[in-house]
Amino acid sequence: MKEINLKVKIGDFEFQNPITVASGTFGYIEKYMDDAKLRKLGAIVPKTITLNPQDGNPAPRIVETASGMINSIGIENEGVDSFIENKLPKLQKIGIPIIVSISGKTKDEFLRIAEKLNKCDIAFLELNLSCPNLGHKKLVAQDSQATFDTIKAVKEVSKARIIAKLSPNVTDISEIALSAEEGKADALSLVNTFWAMAIDIKKRIPLIGNVTGGLSGPAIKPIALSMVYKVRQVTRIPIIAMGGIMDYKDALEFIIAGATFVAVGTANFINPNAPLEILKGIKEYLKENNISDINQLIGSLKTK
Ligand SMILES: Cc1cc2nc3c(=O)[nH]c(=O)nc-3n(C[C@H](O)[C@H](O)[C@H](O)COP(=O)(O)O)c2cc1C
Repeated sequence: MKEINLKVKIGDFEFQNPITVASGTFGYIEKYMDDAKLRKLGAIVPKTITLNPQDGNPAPRIVETASGMINSIGIENEGVDSFIENKLPKLQKIGIPIIVSISGKTKDEFLRIAEKLNKCDIAFLELNLSCPNLGHKKLVAQDSQATFDTIKAVKEVSKARIIAKLSPNVTDISEIALSAEEGKADALSLVNTFWAMAIDIKKRIPLIGNVTGGLSGPAIKPIALSMVYKVRQVTRIPIIAMGGIMDYKDALEFIIAGATFVAVGTANFINPNAPLEILKGIKEYLKENNISDINQLIGSLKTK
């Protein structure tokens, strides 16, 4: 069998393979993997950055639950200026595409961050419209109009292609996905974490300092998968899927359901090599099943 093709495209941009890490689960990379290993990934998505430095939420910020974890980090980060000066050059040196994740409290903040990043030659921005830990009344990605407006405005000022990261905390994610497409997003990231909480029954206190947080890990995989499938039915926009991907079989489910790319999140806390093991497992699956091109698998789900 000839060499297996793992290359995938988002719009006109080609990636060497469809595996990345989910924002916030790999920090700014340096602690987790050496550059030689990182270079094997399709892309890297560092932790979300904001306009100004943020301290994040009160501790405890993480609690383990049945088949998952709840986090309430609150986008602790040093702000876009310091990111551009101190983090981005090292990330860009690795030599694979960096998808920069950004979040703003207002549309204007999104625009100001995007403008600052215009000088940095970035192929993709991921707009985190869906962080459940910021105490805002309503998330951008819970409102079709706000989703459309934010994406459209950033598209107009940014030199980068735009990925919209959506929230699962909605009644109908396909409706929000269509608004993102209308705003001319180049791709969608599905999904962020699910609002969740856990209680210490002895002390009768929340186990998360901010009371609620976002659930991730295997517990959310079947729901995230159904959301990817649902969105795939209404739009052809490329999907970067995430939600409980622990091994290559999980990743394949998302690809078969319609994802062009997969991101590994919570699995990194158990095994930082998970993304590379998943890549290897996908390659072996393709070989064993005589599939010469991963693109043949994307959205190949057979239904009656
Ligand atoms: C500790 C932690 C921090 C996270 N921080 C961010 C973040 O800064 N920006 C973001 O878009 N998503 C963030 N996420 C969400 C993940 O990127 C991902 O969407 C979610 O965890 C689902 O994937 P998983 O189940 O594989 O972890 C975070 C998740 C975790 C567990």
